[in-house]
Amino acid sequence: MLRTSFTEVFGVEHPIVQGGMQWVGRAGLAAAVAEAGGLGIITALTQPTPENLVKEIARARDLTDRPFGVNLTILPSINPPPYDEYRQAIIEAGITIVETAGANPAPHLPSFHEAGIKVLHKCTSVRHALKAQAIGVDGISIDGFECAGHPGEDDIPGLVLIPAAAQVIDIPMIASGGFADARGLVAALALGADGINMGTRFMCTVESGIHDDVKRRIVEATERETELIFRPLRNTARVAGNEVSREVVRLLDGGATFDDVRELVAGVRGREVYETGDLDAGIWSVGMVQGLIDDVPTVAELIDRIVGEAEEIIGSRLAGLRADRHSA
Ligand SMILES: Cc1cc2nc3c(=O)[nH]c(=O)nc-3n(C[C@H](O)[C@H](O)[C@H](O)COP(=O)(O)O)c2cc1C
Repeated sequence: MLRTSFTEVFGVEHPIVQGGMQWVGRAGLAAAVAEAGGLGIITALTQPTPENLVKEIARARDLTDRPFGVNLTILPSINPPPYDEYRQAIIEAGITIVETAGANPAPHLPSFHEAGIKVLHKCTSVRHALKAQAIGVDGISIDGFECAGHPGEDDIPGLVLIPAAAQVIDIPMIASGGFADARGLVAALALGADGINMGTRFMCTVESGIHDDVKRRIVEATERETELIFRPLRNTARVAGNEVSREVVRLLDGGATFDDVRELVAGVRGREVYETGDLDAGIWSVGMVQGLIDDVPTVAELIDRIVGEAEEIIGSRLAGLRADRHSA
């Protein structure tokens, strides 16, 4: 067992979080992570309406008695979803942990806290982490440049971002982006984090409800096969390298506008990839860490393996490196 300030404050057994994932973070996956002792998270906006989110939460409750969280991602949008209604649905459903991401969570924080909900805010820079700490979130998830999804515009990888944030953050802090195994967990703890958040690794598990061909592709792919789209629009997203993402990069680098690529990047096309396994149907998120993934375990196998091997690395391999042990 690894105990950290994160496991204490958020009331989970292991310092491992399954971050919000559009089209992937559904009840089955979140419940499996909760059952295995991690923090599983349902992605609110994967559900078309707040009412559907309430049903998805009920579905997860049928699968586990353990607590799980809900992710609320607030991204710039021409037609924003009804965030306040999703927030209300989360509160009324009795959820106790929320992961916020994408923007300053200040407008939502008082309502969540009044309802006794702990807020884990995911951000990609030390300044945003400091801001979130100052407004009173309960934990930080700091997402390095390696991550799937939105890495921000600073391009600071975890090896620098995590210790830089740890130096100034006093509340529990989870390291995110590029984690898939025990080596990563131990490294994150050494860098000053209180646990890890994983997206891509959890996508590639038995309980993740995406098509097997997508999981197979993640197992095959190397760390070099992601693309950063929307760089010129300063809304960068790390996605799988495929025909569509390469075309989007080519068009935007050539001066195209968002309107010119709108159809290519449509969310429904991304959803089709996960549902049908057609890897070139649209844009789909995945991280560089796919290069470290070579199997499709159950969530319980994965979490047990990470925790068990982390204990072994800390107690045996690292402890064995101490010079006094050699001279004894
Ligand atoms: C398929 C997929 C969809 C994602 N969608 C979201 C999302 O809707 N909201 C969010 O905050 N993060 C999202 N993320 C980011 C993850 O929560 C997490 O921060 C990221 O995957 C960490 O990097 P890793 O993939 O290297 O573990 C997504 C990631 C993936 C792989």
